[in-house]
Amino acid sequence: MINWEPSSWRQFEIKQQPIYNNKKELNEIEKKISSFPPLVFAGEARNLKKRLGEVVEGRAFLLQGGDCAESFSDFNAANIRDIFKVIMQMSAILTFASGIPVVKVGRLAGQFAKPRSNDTEVINDIEYPIYRGDIINDIEATISSREADPKRMIQAYNQSASTLNLLRAFAQGGFADLNEVHRWNMEFVKNNSFGQKYEELAYRITEALKFMEACGINTQNTKQLQETEFYTSHEALLLNYEEQLCRKDSLTNKYYDCSAHMLWIGERTRGINEAHVEFLRGVDNPLGVKIGPNITKDEILKLCDILNPNNEAGRLNIIVRMGVDNIKIKLPIILKEIIPEGRKILWSIDPMHGNTIKASNGYKTRIFNDILDEVKSFFEIHKSYNSYAGGIHLEMTGQNVTECIGGSQEITESKLMYKYNTRCDPRLNATQAIELAFLLSDILKR
Ligand code: PEP
Ligand code: CO
Repeated sequence: MINWEPSSWRQFEIKQQPIYNNKKELNEIEKKISSFPPLVFAGEARNLKKRLGEVVEGRAFLLQGGDCAESFSDFNAANIRDIFKVIMQMSAILTFASGIPVVKVGRLAGQFAKPRSNDTEVINDIEYPIYRGDIINDIEATISSREADPKRMIQAYNQSASTLNLLRAFAQGGFADLNEVHRWNMEFVKNNSFGQKYEELAYRITEALKFMEACGINTQNTKQLQETEFYTSHEALLLNYEEQLCRKDSLTNKYYDCSAHMLWIGERTRGINEAHVEFLRGVDNPLGVKIGPNITKDEILKLCDILNPNNEAGRLNIIVRMGVDNIKIKLPIILKEIIPEGRKILWSIDPMHGNTIKASNGYKTRIFNDILDEVKSFFEIHKSYNSYAGGIHLEMTGQNVTECIGGSQEITESKLMYKYNTRCDPRLNATQAIELAFLLSDILKR
């Protein structure tokens, strides 16, 4: 890697960062984090890249999902278990329909820093610094809570380590065993028509397992039935933190950002000559870049040149988040221009961030039908250009929240207040996520 080191981003223009008032404390904490063990190791990131390469080639599908923003206060085993369950359920639905493996990547164990539209907000006539995620400041609206506190990076690191530990236990310790397929369905989902539909599917999987067992293939002799690969990802926004988790892999002599398996750059920080692109070009993890409706062909090609100079399949995931109307106009133009360039790109759809609206009662929300509609358009447009639509990127939770409008539970605007728990953007609840997976499975079957 030419002219790059973990700190070279510091010479570049940077957006969406906090201002730390106590520089001495910041330096001490950065130093401390750089001495902590890595959260993931290079070989795992390489495995994920290989899996994502299979997606690019049309032999697998990427399911990436989890919280908009993880928080210190909602950190408990039940929340981690429930999001894990929903991702396992969605993956079972998609694999059953399509017959191809699903690469599971959580927005988890490190998804703490948030880009924001404004630097401040006014509450009861007082102007506060904006909340930027628990790794940076506190959501409570007081001037001192909103101050950026570098100690939070240590708490975020510790929470990420514990979360990852539990995820690894679930993935490898028997909970992901296909014989557990019924147990992934949560009580509140079961009463719903899509929960029922899932039960039927789980029954068919169980039947298939019985048949295979009779043929001599079982969990004792076939690891794939008993455990799963589960990867982590987050937006690499707070570079003071990410830099400290860079490690040089002794096997390949390459740097990896060992805070997660996969990192992405958001729509607001993907400037070609800016710090985030500079930082991520130097680490060998699989990368994502979010693109909104204003992206140009030249920007995409430059991002490919800088972030994936060797045109490796699985290195670069372009995450389209244009919104239900814009995608229909913009994505065909982009595909028409980019496909002939022969770049190895994993195209996935984030149908959340282009469809955020403010309800008349003030809640930030998303309409489930718009989400479905953008997903459908994404697949149709790719199909018409003979391109493989390889994945989906979702903000979702395993809890029964009321944050997005619509779906089979018929969440209306006036019901948003019942269980609106997100710290940032509205998430699909478990029922909506499963409904979406069934819709996707119909698309993938075709
Ligand atoms: C996000 O993924 O939470 C996010 C802020 O996305 P985007 O960068 O696309 O706005
Ligand atoms: Co979000």
